[in-house]
Amino acid sequence: MEKSLSLVFAEIHNSYPEVVSSAPGRINIIGEHTDYNQGYVLPAAINLKNYFFLSKRNDDMVCIWAENFKKRKMFSLKKISFSKQNKWINYVKGIFWALQEEGLDLRGINGLVWGDIPLEAGLSSSAALEVSIIQGLNALFKLGLAPQRMAELARKAENDFVGVQCGIMDQFVSFFGKKNKAVFLDCETLEHELVPVNLEREGLRVLVFESGVSRELASSDYNKRRNESFQALEIFKKNGVKSYKQLTLSLLEKRKDDMDEVLLKRARHVVNENGRVKKAVEALRKDDFRLLAELIFRSHESLRDDYEVSCPELDLFYEFAREFPGCFGARLIGAGFGGSGIAMVKQKGMAAFREKLLEEARKRKFPRPKFYEIKIGKGAKAYFLDKEGKG
Ligand code: GLA
Repeated sequence: MEKSLSLVFAEIHNSYPEVVSSAPGRINIIGEHTDYNQGYVLPAAINLKNYFFLSKRNDDMVCIWAENFKKRKMFSLKKISFSKQNKWINYVKGIFWALQEEGLDLRGINGLVWGDIPLEAGLSSSAALEVSIIQGLNALFKLGLAPQRMAELARKAENDFVGVQCGIMDQFVSFFGKKNKAVFLDCETLEHELVPVNLEREGLRVLVFESGVSRELASSDYNKRRNESFQALEIFKKNGVKSYKQLTLSLLEKRKDDMDEVLLKRARHVVNENGRVKKAVEALRKDDFRLLAELIFRSHESLRDDYEVSCPELDLFYEFAREFPGCFGARLIGAGFGGSGIAMVKQKGMAAFREKLLEEARKRKFPRPKFYEIKIGKGAKAYFLDKEGKG
């Protein structure tokens, strides 16, 4: 793949790329809508990724070819402005903007981006794009940024340039993911641990169910949920509770009569979900997939009932999976309001799972879902190429 993309780069830009950088998308085993609430998450990098090929120019122009869309976009480093027409270029611009905000000295580049992560499916294609860009620039211009700092800057680009108030989970796991490991991350301190995911030993596979309901993160209710959960925490701050990690169900119970019901539900989801993440880490360490399954199913119920970010298509997926004998957990992942879900399914029952679920979706006249069997893959990497663009 790297080799043929290098040739496409040479055709477009009349020279070979100097650096290639790749960054994976992610699944999230459990811990949804907890990252921006300074809580716990348990995501894993996947084997679908975004590539960024680049070389220096002698001016201040950034010229990017998007191989997936067969489109070229140019902008000047002197004037980086938000593009209303081309959403994808804002992720690229945002990284240049964030690096300049850091006072780093950049020059123009020629670039090519290509990825195989489905877009707007809840698998973090945008974070993978940001991470591949920042890591490529870090290598090419020898900026000396550590992966954690790059993850923070990529998030800043998305929050302050693109305008999506996401947490740190997606960018972080894209850097720190490892093969067959999940990343147990405390989003407050950024302390993290790798946890083994021995699914294959149990004959289990990870199936991504793309609902076909696309959700645009920026325009969705994501920012609204974020504000509601912040508002709920404010109530407890008056009682000395500093973060969701300190909030307990008994404290919530005590205040439930004088709290707005919506805020109560949002807070209950975050408190319960933080607890489930910690239990899931223990379950994975013991290869206890029955316990893991139950936690994953409960996470979906809580996202559906308390955080209210599900939709009928994802609920059908969950309900079907709950009843299916060879399924060890299923839930929506990412922001919700459409996008994808994941299920851990026994290899033996996989074909029947997919076929029967397709049939159920068809009966209800839902969009035809897509399935991807994914593997838990490695985190981002970048390296220099030789004069002919080879690794
Ligand atoms: C999106 C955001 C993440 C996280 C999830 C919900 O994927 O990018 O930061 O908040 O939603 O868990």
